[in-house]
Amino acid sequence: MEKKITEFLEKAKQELATCNALKPLNDLRVKFLGKQGELTAFLRSMKDVPNEDKPKIGQLINKARQEVEEKINELQRKLEEKVLEEKLSRQKVDITEPSKVPEKGEIHPLHKVFDKLIDCCVEMGFTVVTGPEIEYDYYNFEALNVPKDHPARDMQDTFFISDNILMRSQTSSVQVHAMETMKPPFRIVSPGRTYRADSDATHSPVFHQFEGLVVDENISMIDLKSMLTNLLSMLFGENTKVRFRPSYFPFTEPSVEVDATCPSCGGKGCKLCKGTGFMELLGAGMVNPKVLEMSGIDSKKYTGFAFGPGVDRLAMVVNKIPDLRMMFENDIKFLEQLK
Ligand code: PHE
Repeated sequence: MEKKITEFLEKAKQELATCNALKPLNDLRVKFLGKQGELTAFLRSMKDVPNEDKPKIGQLINKARQEVEEKINELQRKLEEKVLEEKLSRQKVDITEPSKVPEKGEIHPLHKVFDKLIDCCVEMGFTVVTGPEIEYDYYNFEALNVPKDHPARDMQDTFFISDNILMRSQTSSVQVHAMETMKPPFRIVSPGRTYRADSDATHSPVFHQFEGLVVDENISMIDLKSMLTNLLSMLFGENTKVRFRPSYFPFTEPSVEVDATCPSCGGKGCKLCKGTGFMELLGAGMVNPKVLEMSGIDSKKYTGFAFGPGVDRLAMVVNKIPDLRMMFENDIKFLEQLK
């Protein structure tokens, strides 16, 4: 037994001396020290050793285990170090290499206009709300005083999903949601995407509107005019002249179309404003009492006004872009010029 242990120790030392990688080292650890390993086998055969020899043999086995364990641990440390060194030498950093400048993202020109509109309106006490883009006919038309057979429906080439459900053609649908859920007095604005089957240089099937609605006691046309004049001068500068022209929308009465001095030529007349000096920017008006009543608001006590600029048009004007589609083609070179 004694001899066998010494032989085992010699053999283990030899095998360890030629081991030069972590995986075979682990195999050796299992072979020598594992549960099915050679040293465990010695312990198992202790039962055949005469009693008087047991303490001595036991000690020998323990010493052998200790020695092999130490050798394996030491070798493991060395091999790990070697692996790390190799890895580090492979990952050398060339500090003379020129660095890559990361490209910086920018807010889309359209969203800058949205942000500006929201900032101005929040400053005037408006709350921002949103509504669904897939909408019931009721919210997009009927509750806005546009019944099924109303000719005003023809102005908005609507994408219908079913008889009753459509892609909203105007953010005015959010007016109805607001009136149904909020108690006057309130002031809301609602930015969002709108859809119409229309496509040319100034129309896109997906476009953007910004709806505003104020409902309170004693709201009059004066409030509408002053608020919108204020908003447009915040957007285009103090010297902006604002013009209100009579118009028609089924959900407002009276209705107006609002123009502002062309920001491109300052009112002198240019290509962008077709020589008129003015740009048509939004529709607005006093909320039709019928519309208030349909959503459960007492039109004898409350009045209101609404307005709804086309945001794509505003972005075209602000950035002097002749074709609206250019904004959605995602040509980075073009968008970069609008920073
Ligand atoms: N929703 C109208 C349109 O798309 C604009 C509008 C909004 C008019 C609010 C009056 C009041 O043409």
